Amino acid sequence: MFDFTIEAEDSSCKARAAKIKTHSGTIETPVFMPVGTVGSVKTLTPDELKDCGAEIILGNTYHLYLRPGTDVLEHFNGIHNFISWDRNILTDSGGFQVFSLSELRDISEEGVYFKSHLDGSKFFMSPEKSMEIQKSIGSDIVMAFDECVNNNLERSYFEKSVDLTTKWAERCKNVPLQSHQNLFGIIQGGTYRDLRKKSAEDIVRVGFKGYAIGGLSVGETTEKMYEITDYTTDFMPEKAPRYLMGVGTPEDILNGIEFGIDMFDCVMPTRNARNGMLFTSRGKLHIKRAQWIYSDEPLDNECSCYTCRNFSKGYLRHLYKSGEILALRLNTIHNINFYLSLVKGARNAIKRGCFAKFKSEMINKMKTGGD
Ligand code: GUN
Ligand code: ZN
Repeated sequence: MFDFTIEAEDSSCKARAAKIKTHSGTIETPVFMPVGTVGSVKTLTPDELKDCGAEIILGNTYHLYLRPGTDVLEHFNGIHNFISWDRNILTDSGGFQVFSLSELRDISEEGVYFKSHLDGSKFFMSPEKSMEIQKSIGSDIVMAFDECVNNNLERSYFEKSVDLTTKWAERCKNVPLQSHQNLFGIIQGGTYRDLRKKSAEDIVRVGFKGYAIGGLSVGETTEKMYEITDYTTDFMPEKAPRYLMGVGTPEDILNGIEFGIDMFDCVMPTRNARNGMLFTSRGKLHIKRAQWIYSDEPLDNECSCYTCRNFSKGYLRHLYKSGEILALRLNTIHNINFYLSLVKGARNAIKRGCFAKFKSEMINKMKTGGD
């Protein structure tokens, strides 16, 4: 089961508000997907994620394959049951982690030999292998296996890579998944408009339930990332979800929504929370700073999360400076809440026909300074 229904479109840009329905429930878009690489959004329980309003989380094929492995995931009847999360799960294919985390051994049309980042042992990943692993995981949305290329490499590499990603996408589509699973294709092409257009047309021709833009936020400037996203969405079907992989800051997400993107994921809210960097409606805030020692104010006056309803910046600073685990949890709750509230605000603004105003007001406010 997969249904994508557009509920509202902005008249002044490409932003839209929609609903994705799958076997595991409804996702309202634009949506942000918290990253739960190994089957947990670091420091949070499923109930806490639900309290933040999360409707879908992301898992990683590469990590789950190395540990706990498909035998364990199959024994537990799939990841939903294993991690006790009954809402939607999207799994990335490994087409990013193999290239970014592991020591690359050998890439050919057949697939990629790589060394595990855990113990250096050797593995093979291919389109078929990625599909079989994601079938064992049982995620609701399955990503095609692609090649993600650093944008500092030369054009000739991208020319070959785009065709390889298309051939791999065709092979992914030929592998049967579980009946509740839905396969998304990934568009590559670096920072080259003609290659992005070609990749989009080829991947759309293969045909998927949804389409992602990959290969961005990997070495190019923010300006280029915006230009290529805006350009590429014009070649993606209107009637299917569009997913911008691995992006980004609150400002990147608002711009992505303007360019017609429906889905986002990024480690930034969770990772930065654990490093003491909080996102607020007035911008970034560093909780370790001495300026917060006596502050009895919440992190963000406009935030209604558990952390902001109950704790002062002075206490959160103390917890963080003391190395308390609670600091990481409370910070993560706030940052995930901030990202999910941001996309919810965007969704409501699109429905009211005032997304442009919402976006510029949010961006201007975030520039006033959280510290
Ligand atoms: N995550 C961020 N970028 C990418 C990409 O290009 N491909 C995949 N598979 N995952 C990503
Ligand atoms: Zn908060």
